[in-house]
Amino acid sequence: MSEQLEGEIDTVMIEQRLFPPTEQFSQQARIKSLAEYQTLYDEARRDPTKFWETQAREHLHWFTPFSETLQWEAPFVKWFVGGKTNASYNCLDAHIAAGRGDRTAIIWEGEPGDERKLTYRQLHSEVCRFANVLKSLGVQTGDVVSIYMPMTPELAIAMLACARLGAVHSVIFAGFSAEAIADRNHDAGAKIQLTSDGLYRRGKVLSLKETVDQALAKSPSVKKCIVLRRVGNDVSMQPGRDFWWHELMEQASDDCPAVPLDSETPLFILYTSGSTGKPKGIRHTTAGYNLYARRTFEWVFDHREDDIYWCTADCGWITGHSYVVYGPMTAGATVLMYEGAPNFPAEDRFWDLIEKYRVTILYTAPTAIRAFIKWGDHHVDKHDLSSLRLLGSVGEGINPEAWMWYHTKIGGGRCPIVDTWWQTETGGIMMSPLPGAIATKPGSCTKPLPGVSPRIVDDNGHDVKRGRGGMLCIDYPWPGMLRGIWGDDQRYRDQYWTKVPGMYLTGDNARQDSDDYYWIMGRIDDVINVSGHRLSTIEVESALVSHPAVAEAAVVGKPDEIKGQAITAFVTLRVEGEVEELRQALKMHVRKEIGALAQPDDIRFTSALPKTRSGKIMRRLLRDIAAGKEQVGDTTTLEDYTVLARLRDDED
Ligand code: WT7
Repeated sequence: MSEQLEGEIDTVMIEQRLFPPTEQFSQQARIKSLAEYQTLYDEARRDPTKFWETQAREHLHWFTPFSETLQWEAPFVKWFVGGKTNASYNCLDAHIAAGRGDRTAIIWEGEPGDERKLTYRQLHSEVCRFANVLKSLGVQTGDVVSIYMPMTPELAIAMLACARLGAVHSVIFAGFSAEAIADRNHDAGAKIQLTSDGLYRRGKVLSLKETVDQALAKSPSVKKCIVLRRVGNDVSMQPGRDFWWHELMEQASDDCPAVPLDSETPLFILYTSGSTGKPKGIRHTTAGYNLYARRTFEWVFDHREDDIYWCTADCGWITGHSYVVYGPMTAGATVLMYEGAPNFPAEDRFWDLIEKYRVTILYTAPTAIRAFIKWGDHHVDKHDLSSLRLLGSVGEGINPEAWMWYHTKIGGGRCPIVDTWWQTETGGIMMSPLPGAIATKPGSCTKPLPGVSPRIVDDNGHDVKRGRGGMLCIDYPWPGMLRGIWGDDQRYRDQYWTKVPGMYLTGDNARQDSDDYYWIMGRIDDVINVSGHRLSTIEVESALVSHPAVAEAAVVGKPDEIKGQAITAFVTLRVEGEVEELRQALKMHVRKEIGALAQPDDIRFTSALPKTRSGKIMRRLLRDIAAGKEQVGDTTTLEDYTVLARLRDDED
């Protein structure tokens, strides 16, 4: 390894495989070749303001045109100043006005198997009625509406009804605790709560209303609560505070024109937990976010009229906001929504849905892909997946091994995979292959989208040499970027704009290879320093996952007197084996794949890894476990405490 500058990271993973799109795919694509991508990218780079100005004029409806495209007083940005638009209008009315009201907007399937379909016209009518319901309970432009609901069409309806009025939605994933809801409601100053009686999960009924009742006891700002009847379980309704969704809807008119809103009107807050401390309310606004979600959806998923598009994310996450609701619906797409678990009634539910609805585009997360691999190929083999033409991945890096499985087993070798890198903060996809234009490499998010200007820098803010890892930053504003942290400008500055002056700090490390492809190397905090060499967790994890016995791996550093840090790997297995033998085999495997430096000192087998509710491995916790420390900080996002307890026990 060559001499290392401060803040640079070594790379040990060299991926040679290249998968160009088929000619047939490219010919029909919106962007057909690398040259075409490059032209678009260069055009945006030469004059980003002009580029986004044209995009906004062509791809959003304006009640009043904007007079200025960009006001940039770092770190505060305003896009499309003086214009008036409405995201709900762009998602609904625009299609009806264009004569496309009878297109299917949502195909929905509940976990028990119940089905619904809504055209854009029907969805429009529901959204208008619900917006009138919100108005009748006193909701006005600027009010915060807290949403804690299952993945039903009503969740999307609620979001779009808020957007119609300029009320700010704060969707809280329906797996969070009462405490987490109360914290978020308090921070946001929410006025009203939307929820349901319960939801179906893995064949069981979970009561949401009970959790909400506990949360509302600690949410003094929330005065009203609307309850959707989903499962029909008994709930207690507090007179004067709680109302049934269906009762209010009965009386509501479906005449509710979308309010013309200033471009920078807040559209939503979405809380992310970050690695420590109190959750941050990421604030997104109307026009810029809406435009960015739409264009990135169209570019990355190469959307066409006849696509049946399925993003498996819950609307409780940014992926659900941007790529279930605002992106696809502004583009007029047909979106499949599924309520439940991937393994109910059996581990083939996703493949069953794809076959049944002839899904053409599937967008899911590496954590799900690794679970499918573990559950076994026979679940996939039972189904006809020939309708699929494009696959996507989001949320974490996808290990090359899992990528190859996704490519061959799900994509039948014919579907490009778009590995999309982005964040809650970025509002939409920042780096991804354009599937008709950019050849993919397993594990790389390839190239930035038009209008996105990434930089990789060392601790002093200097660009690192090609091939070296460093901090990934964005050096120019884009329309989808966060506008701040709700109620905390100082934290916004500190978190994103201080460490590298003048640039947005993503918090991830990355490198560029000799083809200028980008490789995300994990979070900055996750870097392991072995004998002065800074290694990225994902590379070591990918080496472990490439061993046939391994399903999942998480790698962390542990303090070591001699090396600075030693590597501890937590591993789940696809098949049980002789533990001591396997431990040696895995060490040798990593040594062979990437070298002695990256060989784990300690390998611990576990039946599951602790994950956040959105499926990310909690490396901070694993670091504490590896170091033998007690766990500290905010744990409301811990998926499974028992996993943690089990890991601790293993130690004793
Ligand atoms: C973090 C953002 C992206 C929307 C859903 C998660 C990691 C995300 C990738 C990818 C490698 C990825 C990054 C990022 N991440 N996508 N394709 N390759 N890492 O949003 O919860 O805000 O998380 O997820 O570390 O910073 P989020």
